Amino acid sequence: MRAHIPVGTHLRSPHVTVTPAEAATRAAQLLARPATINGLTVPNRIAMAPMTRMFSPGGVPGEDVVSYYSRRAAAGVGLIVTEGTYVGHDSAGQSDRVPRFHGEEQLAGWAKVAEAVHAGGGTIVPQLWHIGMVRKAGDQPFPEAPAVGPSGLRIGEDEPTGRAMTQRDLDDVIGAFAESAAAAERIGFDGVEIHGAHGYLVDQFLWAGTNRRTDAYGGDPVSRAKFAAEIVAAVRETVSPDFPVIFRYSQWKQEAYDARLAETPEELEAVLAPLASAGVDAFHASTRRYWVPEFEDSDLNLAGWTKKLTGKTAITVGSVGLDGDFDKAFQGEGASVRGLDNLLDRMERDEFDLVAVGRALLQDPRWAEKVLGGRFDELAPYDAASLKTLS
Ligand SMILES: Cc1cc2nc3c(=O)[nH]c(=O)nc-3n(C[C@H](O)[C@H](O)[C@H](O)COP(=O)(O)O)c2cc1C
Repeated sequence: MRAHIPVGTHLRSPHVTVTPAEAATRAAQLLARPATINGLTVPNRIAMAPMTRMFSPGGVPGEDVVSYYSRRAAAGVGLIVTEGTYVGHDSAGQSDRVPRFHGEEQLAGWAKVAEAVHAGGGTIVPQLWHIGMVRKAGDQPFPEAPAVGPSGLRIGEDEPTGRAMTQRDLDDVIGAFAESAAAAERIGFDGVEIHGAHGYLVDQFLWAGTNRRTDAYGGDPVSRAKFAAEIVAAVRETVSPDFPVIFRYSQWKQEAYDARLAETPEELEAVLAPLASAGVDAFHASTRRYWVPEFEDSDLNLAGWTKKLTGKTAITVGSVGLDGDFDKAFQGEGASVRGLDNLLDRMERDEFDLVAVGRALLQDPRWAEKVLGGRFDELAPYDAASLKTLS
């Protein structure tokens, strides 16, 4: 019987049966280790994935949002990445119920969130977001502003329905990201995450499907990464040198789940290297299933490749603790509990550094505490009804 499993040693085999006590020890040993992102020490390896909730009328996070996040921090989440929050540009968002990361009242609300999360022992970064061309049909932007993107194209369109961004637009949006990052540091957040994933503005530049520009911001992967790299550099310049800058990216896009930024590790490196040089401290590699290998001839997932190619801290995500993809949740589908063995095997091999958890933490504010304590029998299946509340 194995009483102690040294971290960093790969002892798993499909033929070894582990007792519940051994599984609990292994989970605690791997997930309870602190992690470092630039000047920040995260108390353990469990992060809360960013999840838009739309419970902030006027863009102001209220007391219910404060307790929603602080409850999870007090119950073991080491790093909270907030829901996407709009940066201060008229074209950044569409909904008046999505929180904003600019404006006096909005930032005062966020300061309370950060304070409460710290009181619970957690750390927190806002996810800074500009939706670009992703707009729901018929919805009006808030405040009313034209949809903008690299080429004014929505995903799947060949003809523009929005405006291609001018140099002035680019400069203004870059400035808005930097201002929100400065505000994050000023009001007590522990870092920032730039939303460069899922087909929103920054990703619209990264992906050839929506970026048809012929200027310096379009063309090969390095040119397509220029806008993102300029945002990272502007943020980096605005905040203290040890203030963590996280960049979230994905291959998949809203309404194009099979889309890919990179078909090979070499192509991925071309996209990520300029971002790493511009000052990214950690990459958050968004996938729907963390156990799926990203490229042929290797078991590494997207976060694993990201860490290998850039040497930066990597956060994985996608169906942690659950069987069934997150996008099904929006059609009301639940998901059953999935064991953590494969995740822990990958952590043991140092494939990535932190693990972000989405739906499982929506459903159960105490998920992290239960996992860190080895109370796996208390984990419940995911019920999509949790989308409707801020409990
Ligand atoms: C309700 C909901 C809202 C989401 N909003 C965001 C968001 O604002 N920003 C983002 O980068 N990802 C967002 N996502 C994706 C999650 O961060 C995460 O990557 C995804 O849910 C997969 O993790 P899971 O399988 O653990 O749920 C959202 C997911 C859900 C379920």
